[in-house]
Amino acid sequence: MKKEQVVNCQFSVWYPIFKKHSIKSLILPLPQNVIDYLLDDGTLVVSGSDHNTQQTHANNSDSDAEEDIQAPEFPEFTSKVQEAINALGGRVFPKLNWSAPRDANWIALNSSLQCDSLRDIFLLFKSSDFITHDLAQPFLACSDQDSPDPVINYELVLRKWSELIPGGEFRCFVKENKLIAISQRDYTQYYQHVWKQEEQICHAIQGFFSQHIQYNFLDEDFVFDVYRDSQGRVWLIDVNPFGEVTDSLLFSWEELTGGGGIAQHGFYPYVQEGPAFRCTTSEVTVQPSPCLSYRIPRDFVDLSTGEDAYKLIDFLKLVRWCYKTFVI
Ligand SMILES: Nc1ncnc2c1ncn2[C@@H]1O[C@H](COP(=O)(O)OP(=O)(O)O)[C@@H](O)[C@H]1O
Ligand SMILES: [Mg+2]
Repeated sequence: MKKEQVVNCQFSVWYPIFKKHSIKSLILPLPQNVIDYLLDDGTLVVSGSDHNTQQTHANNSDSDAEEDIQAPEFPEFTSKVQEAINALGGRVFPKLNWSAPRDANWIALNSSLQCDSLRDIFLLFKSSDFITHDLAQPFLACSDQDSPDPVINYELVLRKWSELIPGGEFRCFVKENKLIAISQRDYTQYYQHVWKQEEQICHAIQGFFSQHIQYNFLDEDFVFDVYRDSQGRVWLIDVNPFGEVTDSLLFSWEELTGGGGIAQHGFYPYVQEGPAFRCTTSEVTVQPSPCLSYRIPRDFVDLSTGEDAYKLIDFLKLVRWCYKTFVI
């Protein structure tokens, strides 16, 4: 995978091309001071709303131990974000150039990525390794390490919140402009209707690909994610680089990149006309959710699902204070 492939998969590159077939979204440039704030591990205080921030400070004001950490304020950016959220119906799904903070949903009040303010977005972003990866080392897995890193203009992507049923999501692998494989995206679950409607699903996705996607993207190798809604209409959800940084789900990268053809369901290898389709076929194969390993211990989760997730932040600050006071 080359750096250019990663550059091409940025939201602001693919979205304008496929806008008609995707979820309504707005892109806001991320100011440098916001990027610095997101990358700063030390600042646990979440910025973005004045009354809650004051409340956080009030809670801490009688503790001399707490150094004076001020939540940075970004008034201009905050109002732009709020305006965009309102224009998208008041609830959004946030991401950066490539990634959403999927590994951090445990910290949100509702254990979801649904946000209605910049404060919600910051809480998720500051808790996410996926977001840090986008900001700090987006080209880490590229093979052309000797070439200079392309300049990235960081962007906050706000997408209209949509209740997607996980069984309707599929990942599609395109090699040399051919759709070679389709995998159920949430492979941890068995969805009987997916297993039963395999042919219709495959047909619908192939049609969508040949009509709208094929030859329209900047690269000939890429991975796109789709959602098939209850009416059978297919929507583009995301575009990802064709390579190890992208989860190959029910396939392996050796199968996808090798020339040997892809076995249907891994049972009998044969080279076929259309794409190989894989879904989870029984309860037996159900696996733990891949983001589970990003979760923190149960006590922390309980704390974060209480009336106020920001209690968790106060708690973490206390832990840090104890650490500084007693350990160092
Ligand atoms: N607009 C949206 N509203 C609600 N959920 C969404 C939305 N867009 C994506 N999702 C959910 O979040 C998941 C991850 O989104 P995606 O854009 O592919 O991020 P990433 O590239 O970081 O995995 C999707 O599989 C889907 O379940
Ligand atoms: Mg993606």
